[in-house]
Amino acid sequence: MELLKTPAEARAFSRAAKARGERVALVPTMGYLHEGHFSLIRLARQGAAAVMVSLFVNPAQFGPGEDLGRYPRDFERDRVLCEREGVKALFAPDVLAVYPPGFSTSVEVAGPMSAGLCGASRPGHFRGVATVVTKLLCACEPDLAVFGQKDAQQAAVIRRLVRDLDLPVEIVVAPIVREADGLAMSSRNVYLSPAERAQAPALKAALDEASALFARGERRAKRLAEAARARLEMTPLARIDYVELVDAENLAPVEIVDQPSLLALAVFFGATRLIDNAHLTP
Ligand code: PAF
Repeated sequence: MELLKTPAEARAFSRAAKARGERVALVPTMGYLHEGHFSLIRLARQGAAAVMVSLFVNPAQFGPGEDLGRYPRDFERDRVLCEREGVKALFAPDVLAVYPPGFSTSVEVAGPMSAGLCGASRPGHFRGVATVVTKLLCACEPDLAVFGQKDAQQAAVIRRLVRDLDLPVEIVVAPIVREADGLAMSSRNVYLSPAERAQAPALKAALDEASALFARGERRAKRLAEAARARLEMTPLARIDYVELVDAENLAPVEIVDQPSLLALAVFFGATRLIDNAHLTP
């Protein structure tokens, strides 16, 4: 496995692989890899011989007072795990290689797609994501890039920017990977205290509650969201950030679920904010 430190090295790796006739896939990550990431890497390997993983904790997508400083990091462990998963190149640039002095450009997917849901409590977050992902795609020039469905809003934003900017890359979104008790895998789960961890499966339980109601024929978004809320409100350590039903593609709020929709929620346990979602397809 090659270790790449600059966008120029990433581009040279990708172009050399393509010159050998290989397809190139990129799995963008912020490191501290877990089973969820491995599922993305495995999907990438199905579609490409040359799998690149980027590992970059992107300061531009953290707001003031968020967890940039304490975001979990273990480069050596991530490097070994990538090697084990058959990754061909690990692109791990320093902050200055991505944002050199004078850096002044940002990419913003305007409107509710970035402003709603997580964007409401994390202003600027999706600008930071869109900017770094555009840079990673420009550096690695992958044929396909794989993202996780847990970050459904991020996936929608990235699909939109790829369409809008005519970027020649296929975006693949991989299903959520869960712990045995239903908690969606996330690098941030390590922040949870034992008591919080014990209650965190409430997110999945809330989604299941609403999905069951939907399966029984309920189509009113308000009622479905209420069912999820009620389940979360039974959870002493959970503080709801949002529970919303939105159009699965453009993320506009829906009142009646008569199109493929997404039930998305964000919940605080102490200072840790967890997200999860489920598709509701009539
Ligand atoms: O999902 C993530 O880990 C990050 O948001 C991403 C896509 C790597 C951009 O920094």
